[in-house]
Amino acid sequence: MAANVRKAVFPVGGLGTRFLPATKAIPKEMLPVVDKPLIQYAVEEAAAAGIEEFIFVTSRGKTAIEDHFDHSHLLTTSLEASGRQDLVALIEDWLPGPGQVAYVRQMSPLGLGHAVWCARHLVGDEPFAVILPDDLVQAETPVMAQMVAAHAEMGGNLVAVMDVPREETRRYGILDVAHDDGRLAEVSGLVEKPDPADAPSTLSIIGRYILSADVFAELDAMEPGAGGEIQLTDAMARLIGRMPFHGLRYEGRRFDCGDKLGYLEATVAFALARDDLGPGLASYLSSTVRATGEES
Ligand code: G1P
Repeated sequence: MAANVRKAVFPVGGLGTRFLPATKAIPKEMLPVVDKPLIQYAVEEAAAAGIEEFIFVTSRGKTAIEDHFDHSHLLTTSLEASGRQDLVALIEDWLPGPGQVAYVRQMSPLGLGHAVWCARHLVGDEPFAVILPDDLVQAETPVMAQMVAAHAEMGGNLVAVMDVPREETRRYGILDVAHDDGRLAEVSGLVEKPDPADAPSTLSIIGRYILSADVFAELDAMEPGAGGEIQLTDAMARLIGRMPFHGLRYEGRRFDCGDKLGYLEATVAFALARDDLGPGLASYLSSTVRATGEES
């Protein structure tokens, strides 16, 4: 059985230019889907999978994330004084404890592989998870928990995958597949953001990984790949053949919250799933869609 996955790395150094001006003064990871920041969904997903140590790879201007994962004594005291224990629970219940969260600065925006490499001393020599908060998945069993269970079976490296339309392959890391049982695909190659014509398949990586610490030695080379960036996909590709490597078709619905339309879809889907907001939003949406249909 593979070793437990105890640590997760959250690359949160990106500038968030696609959401300007909203992200001029706040990190894109603090954008809310309904009423919870993207980064909190990611951390809660990790915690639900048994992760105990949360490593953020940050950059300048990201201190709001540190404040979010800390007690706010002023807020707690004032909420307690007004008898709002329900709200205290909303800001406290999901907080990792002291010493469970660590921050390291990426210092230069050299790519996802470089961001993960910056966490190498905090991860050490054990398998670890990587979660990209932009990829938000609505699932009955949180995706990282599905991955930890599959990793306990298979060991090695594991990435969450989904099929995408061929014209979208240049947005993702794409798998070449040796064997596929419909749930787990055995990876025989990986290409970062290939042109549709060159893509070895349409099975693409979404932002969930469980990796062997051996990936750090591959990242040490600092070789730029697609887009001139140091790509995690390239370092992972060099591990193929040396240990098991699988893509897991997870159960759930993924939203690309790094994209405005994906972010809006996530907001609607997560709000519709809530008892307090779902019915009201559903009736607003259906009347709006009807009115739009009548106009056109
Ligand atoms: C990153 C990875 C890519 C992966 C994608 C998932 O790309 O490099 O392999 O498919 O995340 O969202 P990015 O979206 O950061 O350009």
